[in-house]
Amino acid sequence: MGHYQKPPELYDGLRLHQNENTGGCSPRVIEALAKLRPDQIGFYPPYAAATDVIARYLGVPADRVAITNGLDEGIMALSVAQLRPDGGRPVPEAIVPEPAFEIFRFDTAVAGGALVQVMPHADFSFPLDEVLGAITPNTRVVFLTNPNNPTGVSMPLDAIRAIARHLPPKAIVFVDEAYAEFAGVTFLPELASFPNVIVGRTFSKAFGLAGLRIGCLVGAADVLDPIREAVPVYSVNVAAVAAVQAALGDLDHLNHYLRQVAESKAILYAACDRLGLKYWRSSSNFVLLCAGDRTTALVNGAFERGIYIRDRSTEPGCAGCIRVGAGIVEHTRRAVAVMEEVLCAVR
Ligand SMILES: Cc1ncc(COP(=O)(O)O)c(C=O)c1O
Repeated sequence: MGHYQKPPELYDGLRLHQNENTGGCSPRVIEALAKLRPDQIGFYPPYAAATDVIARYLGVPADRVAITNGLDEGIMALSVAQLRPDGGRPVPEAIVPEPAFEIFRFDTAVAGGALVQVMPHADFSFPLDEVLGAITPNTRVVFLTNPNNPTGVSMPLDAIRAIARHLPPKAIVFVDEAYAEFAGVTFLPELASFPNVIVGRTFSKAFGLAGLRIGCLVGAADVLDPIREAVPVYSVNVAAVAAVQAALGDLDHLNHYLRQVAESKAILYAACDRLGLKYWRSSSNFVLLCAGDRTTALVNGAFERGIYIRDRSTEPGCAGCIRVGAGIVEHTRRAVAVMEEVLCAVR
């Protein structure tokens, strides 16, 4: 499998292709960054205060939280800890219900594990029986995302419980909750009852800190400890540590963005209805829609007009699909106007 292809670095248009918060972070984050002193930047960063603030926000004990340089780093560390072959066969297996965050595939390959893909139902309802059927004595990770990316569709928490109960002793369920703030649902309160589940969270999306790179893993100490060992020492920098505390001190900013997201999704659904595009109702800050044979024309036409949306048509079960960020209402209105203009031109 080739190296992960990052989307191109596009900064002079409207970025609706990476599920970022296009409204940006709280102004309090900027104030906190401006207050950093030279000595704080001169020293390796302390983590206790930020970890406490994150743990309080998530409602878990601080010793269950490992902060990471973006959730991406947490996923890589988890993959290395769980999927690195220990010399002999059999190769550790990772189960990925598709379509999924593509990093699961890449990190499984980098760690040396074997990828077991579970193909989706047509309506993207969660394929529980198929996932349970894919579990073997060699399973080491089941990668789940709730709500899912790229579909935006939520999975029932009962499916997570069922998978956790069926796993062999060394295996874990990873529940990626990168978009949990938008869904308002989390598995975190159940972690005490399911020690083989690790939850991942990020401050890149709802809190608008993607450029600073901070996320975390949450789970039982004995499962988390080997994963912590795979996280480079001091990988989260002092700016991210200051920023996350400031961001969590301004939940009004978060709630404003959540309201914008809800309104943006309604605008996008209405536009899809008008334009005859199929879509899936999303619990996240993006919407997956189907433009069929007009996909390339729509993505390229929007690109030429400075609106970046993501062609997901090569992902399993996503033929003809485009993922469109649904955040700041004014941005969504601009995107919808451009989509209508392009589609009228290609009719
Ligand atoms: C499902 C999922 N997990 C993790 C991430 C990465 O988050 P971070 O920016 O914290 O590395 C993303 C980003 O797109 C995502 O969609």
